[in-house]
Amino acid sequence: MNDNLHTLRCFGCGARIAGPDARPDFRCAECGDLFEVEYAGWGQRQGLNRPNPGALKWLWRERRCSSEALDQSGVWRFRELLPILDNFGDAVSLHEGNTPLYKLKRAARALGIDQLFAKHQGMNPTGSFKDTGMTAALSVARERGFEWVACASTGNTSAAMAAYAARSGLRSLVLIPEGKIAWGKLSQAMDYGAITCQLKSDFDGCVRVLTQIVNEAPIYLLNSVNPYRLEGQKTPAFEIAEAFDWTVPDHLIVPGGNLANSSALGKGFRELHELGLVARMPRISVIQAEGANPLARSFVENNGEQMKPVEAHTRATAIRIGNPASWRKAARVIKDTGGWCLDVSEAEIAIAKAELGAEGLGCEPASAVTLAGLKKLREQGKVAASETVVLLLTGHTLKDADYTINFHRGTLLGDDEVAGHQQKIAALQRNAVAVDATPSAVLATLKGLAG
Ligand code: F0G
Repeated sequence: MNDNLHTLRCFGCGARIAGPDARPDFRCAECGDLFEVEYAGWGQRQGLNRPNPGALKWLWRERRCSSEALDQSGVWRFRELLPILDNFGDAVSLHEGNTPLYKLKRAARALGIDQLFAKHQGMNPTGSFKDTGMTAALSVARERGFEWVACASTGNTSAAMAAYAARSGLRSLVLIPEGKIAWGKLSQAMDYGAITCQLKSDFDGCVRVLTQIVNEAPIYLLNSVNPYRLEGQKTPAFEIAEAFDWTVPDHLIVPGGNLANSSALGKGFRELHELGLVARMPRISVIQAEGANPLARSFVENNGEQMKPVEAHTRATAIRIGNPASWRKAARVIKDTGGWCLDVSEAEIAIAKAELGAEGLGCEPASAVTLAGLKKLREQGKVAASETVVLLLTGHTLKDADYTINFHRGTLLGDDEVAGHQQKIAALQRNAVAVDATPSAVLATLKGLAG
């Protein structure tokens, strides 16, 4: 059965090509911009290819009770909205998606917001949101007969790619910036059998090298310039809409690195809206780290029309990216939905991460930018108390345990970064203490805390 209904449309010049005709680097031959997957007929009010909203909502819910592997995936459960494969039976799945949506009570109280939630994409099989995109794009690679797949990564993409490649019997090549990715992520790529090359460069340098490689060798590129990645990564938008019974939250806040995820979620909500499954789109805001903030800067300087790359520095290594590939797509999502793009400092990220941890929802530093950003938006009067807000947490806390331990030991931040935040940080720190192996010594520790 041919389930495939898509074409690729250039985001810059609008040129349309068939999926298999894309260049190995997924850049438009006419203008060099990126492609978006497009489905014929979805923009029209009626038409043969236009799915029926009521039937879809019912079907997707039913599939949650199904024992079929494809139905148990939170990505392929929504396969009518990502018809990118010739045969859905080719999908490579690790039961990704269907991640929890948690209510954040303490943070909501502290911020004076009624309804605050965290959609925890770190609860995916390899511990990050990348799994939702990888199941989609790697399935396309397999269907098109590739033997090798590759990515440049700050860690999570490589972990996800290596796992999905291993499941499907493909070989995988990972390029990472030497010394600049968290150990948990590097260990995953090794565990899943990837060939891992640590380059003496940053993420942006790894991307440059890999682009040349895929233009010379028959290796399928799985960075997020690959538009099929975004088809998988749009599905959390469907899960969020479903969780709110097809009314959408007022505001979704997403971390920004290479800026594909915000683009994908925007596409997901836009398609739900176009197809009549929801009545409106949420505002979508993107938060970057201060040291890796090219899009936030561009919004200040020229309302997101032009972006100048920066040399990126942040301890939130997942988003240590100075020249994000999908910035134009993300800027459009932010503008179309009335969202904002802000940056937050290293101390603000560390505090927000510890606050989420103290609420039982550990996450990666890159994920915590969302809470730090929400605080700023609230201070600036851009989020009202009555709004329903969802933070997208992108990675699991165990991905970067060193960061967490260093925060609690007080060795993470420099004195200049801590300035003005000392009290807040001290109240959150829970360093492990060395105590004699006796009950009385342990109990004395508790008394000390109470005092
Ligand atoms: N959060 C985490 C945990 C990430 O790993 C990334 C990106 C992002 C946020 C930003 O998402 O790039 O779509 O804006 N990590 C990539 C990687 C770049 O290689 O793992 P984005």
